[in-house]
Amino acid sequence: MTLNIGTIALQSPVVLAPMAGVTNVAFRTLCRELEQEKIGTVSGLYVCEMITARALVERNEKTLHMTTFGENETPRSMQLYTTDPEYTYKAAKMIVDENLADHIDMNFGCPVPKVTRRGGGSALPYKRRLFGNIVAAAVKATEGTDIPVTVKFRVGIDDEHHTHLDAGRIAVEEGAAAVALHARTAAQRYSGQANWDEIARLKQHLAHTGIPVLGNGDVFKASDAQAMMDATGCDGVVVGRGCLGRPWLFAALSAQLRGLEIPPEPTLGEVTKIMLRHTELLIAHDGERKGCQDIRKHMGWYLRGFPVGGELRARLSTITSLADLREALAPYADSQAVADDAEGPRGRKGSPAKVILPEGWLDDPEDATVPDGADIMHSGG
Ligand SMILES: Cc1cc2nc3c(=O)[nH]c(=O)nc-3n(C[C@H](O)[C@H](O)[C@H](O)COP(=O)(O)O)c2cc1C
Repeated sequence: MTLNIGTIALQSPVVLAPMAGVTNVAFRTLCRELEQEKIGTVSGLYVCEMITARALVERNEKTLHMTTFGENETPRSMQLYTTDPEYTYKAAKMIVDENLADHIDMNFGCPVPKVTRRGGGSALPYKRRLFGNIVAAAVKATEGTDIPVTVKFRVGIDDEHHTHLDAGRIAVEEGAAAVALHARTAAQRYSGQANWDEIARLKQHLAHTGIPVLGNGDVFKASDAQAMMDATGCDGVVVGRGCLGRPWLFAALSAQLRGLEIPPEPTLGEVTKIMLRHTELLIAHDGERKGCQDIRKHMGWYLRGFPVGGELRARLSTITSLADLREALAPYADSQAVADDAEGPRGRKGSPAKVILPEGWLDDPEDATVPDGADIMHSGG
């Protein structure tokens, strides 16, 4: 099974979901290395954590650092968070003119209150014209290039306000090369189960256009990806939380969808090597202090289901150097233990909540006014 997104030809229909604070160059490099090592090719698409369009245009230093790609990374996939056609155009034009990426995705899925209360993220597709204008701006800026623009969104604001079918249609009309649906409403946040039926509906809705529809939500293991594709007819899968602490998952997903043998789950000894490699890559990107701080949040994910005691877990949550980490993990380097129930749900769950929107937001879906202050920098999707 392959997947074409505009001019980008992928050998497997597997996409690493953009995750703020996770899918930086270090994590993507690690996933790609493991796919190469375990199945001999890098076949999927690995999306960068989201970049705020306005901050990019304003050349915010931290934002520019977040746009780092690996030396051999191809395609370079960048996600923009944006609420404004003007900044979208400028950011996309900057990406083109300065050769910053090979693919632009756009984030309309973020459910966090500080974003939706200003009309950004998952609140925005409700404003059909504004949404269309934003997609059109990115497509216009990339005209005449090989850079496809794709759009990622949720089912809607809540069950009374679904927006995904309109968002898909509008995105395609405005020139998007693919769309991805996280099959939850904003009100669901990350709770409950993704409703894959909505992926099937979107796929049917767009079938006549030939534009790929990617499904997202609750793929935690290789067989889930197959099940999602079989159940919905979607053209590819986007996988987020399932790869937290399991960067080798993409090798398994690609193998599953290409009919290859699925590599065995790593032993604890192998996982310690992967943890060290992840830390090295983070340090190369951000320096030792920040790299070590950043790896701490991954430790619980990596060790889930392994028979290691609270003492090690506590020590790993305070490590400050690579040497420190090496020493802490050394006793486990040859461990053949395998994780118990590592393939279940992981990462954010939370509970449903009423979506906070700007005053009067639902009154006029055709109002194209850019919401005030919605392009603030934020993290999370
Ligand atoms: C820690 C974290 C950060 C996220 N950041 C982003 C983001 O920057 N952009 C985005 O479009 N979605 C973001 N998401 C949402 C994921 O891309 C994905 O849509 C969601 O996790 C559902 O997929 P899953 O069930 O495979 O995890 C984030 C999710 C998590 C857990």
